Amino acid sequence: MGAPVISLTDIPEPAEIRDLATERGILVLAHSYQDGFIQDSAHFVGDSLELAREAAKSDAEAICFCGVHFMAETAALLCPQAEVFVPDLNAGCSLADSCEAEELAKYQDYLQSKLGKRPQTVAYINCTAAVKALSDIICTSGNAKAVVESIPEDDPILFVPDRHLGGWLNETTGRNMELWNGSCMVHELFSVDTLCDLQMANPGSVTISHPECPKPVRDASDYVLGTAGMLRLAQENSATTFLVGTEGNMLYRLEQVAPQNTYISAPGASCACNLCPHMQLNTSAKLWEALETRGPRVVVPMEIAHPARRALDRMLEVA
Ligand code: 13P
Ligand code: SF4
Repeated sequence: MGAPVISLTDIPEPAEIRDLATERGILVLAHSYQDGFIQDSAHFVGDSLELAREAAKSDAEAICFCGVHFMAETAALLCPQAEVFVPDLNAGCSLADSCEAEELAKYQDYLQSKLGKRPQTVAYINCTAAVKALSDIICTSGNAKAVVESIPEDDPILFVPDRHLGGWLNETTGRNMELWNGSCMVHELFSVDTLCDLQMANPGSVTISHPECPKPVRDASDYVLGTAGMLRLAQENSATTFLVGTEGNMLYRLEQVAPQNTYISAPGASCACNLCPHMQLNTSAKLWEALETRGPRVVVPMEIAHPARRALDRMLEVA
């Protein structure tokens, strides 16, 4: 017999869900790529860096993390006293999947013998806890430049797993980091041709794209920013129309924070391929069930937790 099905009419409104979670001592954290219902149900919505900081400073006994698995692992590492659980344990990430710890360890050894010096491994936070444990320091889209610049210029760097973010960092810092060949299945699909059509159809608009986008899309953009940077720009810039090159649910967040503007999704509102299929696995029904059952849990094995936490702490010191 399958699990009982929760009817949508059984699910309370977002504000009620949040209050109920508060009563139960559960902190609900959500990434800006979650749908509007989940964002509205959360105590805190943010980018990967803000969510990591929120977990690190929390004294909650339980965290329901609405995002993908590597984000929940990060919360478990930074808030070890909390039971961390998620709406859907299968919510993964193509970037995290592209870099397996065993493969990374072999490549680090290979580079060490080739260069005569072990490279510093900088890992984008979109990776597993096991990969974080093999890394010297973690970064997010919001602090990647500062993290790379914190490493002495003579030290060779291996950047994992996103080749697009890594390429953008090489361009903007002048470093020549070795890049792992991973990419985000959502940002990889943004098309520069569609973007240019949108730009021609919307004169005076400002294009903002995420550094996980391929170089032609980044080059055609006015600003390359992580999701927190996009929110800041939308509040500060004098433009009123923004073409947004990132996951589609970010538009909901932008509309909440700066409702005076018009936001147009690249590659186009009629196409759902800019929605992350992993993030979409989390639904209002699964969130409600997770709060009822306090599961499924995300637990990081001890032997991985210690070195992974060290790499995260090093990032938090830089940022
Ligand atoms: P940021 O929120 O850090 O910009 O990350 C984007 C992302 O792809 C998360 O999966
Ligand atoms: Fe991973 Fe891309 Fe989805 Fe973010 S949007 S979770 S990087 S697959």
